[in-house]
Amino acid sequence: MKQRLQKILAQAGIASRRGSEQLIKAGRIRVNGMLVGEMGTKVDPMIDIITFDGQRIDIEEKKTVLVNKPPGYVTTLSDPQGRLVVADLVADIPLRLFPVGRLDFDTEGALLMTNDGELAERILHPRYEVKKTYQAEVRGIPSRPQLLRLEQGVIIDGSQTWPAAIRILQQRQDRSLIEIVIHEGKKRQVRKMFQAIGHRVLHLKRTAYGDLRLGDLASGKYRVLGHTDIKKIFSGKIPFTIRNIPA
Ligand code: URA
Repeated sequence: MKQRLQKILAQAGIASRRGSEQLIKAGRIRVNGMLVGEMGTKVDPMIDIITFDGQRIDIEEKKTVLVNKPPGYVTTLSDPQGRLVVADLVADIPLRLFPVGRLDFDTEGALLMTNDGELAERILHPRYEVKKTYQAEVRGIPSRPQLLRLEQGVIIDGSQTWPAAIRILQQRQDRSLIEIVIHEGKKRQVRKMFQAIGHRVLHLKRTAYGDLRLGDLASGKYRVLGHTDIKKIFSGKIPFTIRNIPA
C-alpha cells in the first residue's frame, strides 16, 4: 500500500515526520535510486527501494496475527528434525512473522505471531503483566487446599509463581477441567504448577491473551489483528474474583 514517504521513514524509526522531511529536503533519501523532489510523494514500502545516505532502509508492513496452534506443532520458524512448525500455519502471509513466546509441542490454542519486535517485547515484558488464560484438563479432582495453593503460588524450578486465578469448569470422577490465569511465562509453567500440587495435566489449551480470546477460531487457522484487538491483549488484570473453589 502506498504511503507518504515521511510517514514511512518515521515508522521505520529513521526520524520524526518533520525530521524525515528535512532528510528528504537535504537529498539524503532516494526512492528507487532517484532523489525525491516533492514532499507529498507516496511510495509502496513493499515494492519501492528506499535508501538513506545510500543505505537501504528495510521497511516491512507490521502485521500481528492470532493463531490457533494445533497440538503437534513446534513453536519455531524451522525445525532441524523436520517436525511441523508454527511458521507453516502463516505461510501464506508474505512477511517474516515470529511467535511471541511459546506453546509446548503438545499444547494447543492461542499463539500470537508478529513481525513487530516492539510489540512482541511489550507483550513478553513482565512489567505489562499480560494475563494468559489456559484450560487444563488434569487427572483427578484437586482438593480445595490444593487449588488455594495454586492460586497463592507454588514453587517451580526453585522459585515461587505469582498468584494465579483459578476457576473450576468441570469435574468428573477421574478428571477436572480447570481454568487458570497467569501472567508469567516460565517454561511448561502450567504443567509444572499442577505437578506441584500432584495433578498431572492431560491436555492444555491457551484460550486468551489478556481480553483477546481465541473464540471460535478453528484449529490451525489465524486471524489478522487490528488496533482494538491489540489493545485487548493488554487490558484487564488477573481476575481474582472468578474463583469458584468450593468450600
Ligand atoms: N504452560 C505450559 O505448561 N505449557 C505451555 O505451552 C504454556 C504454558
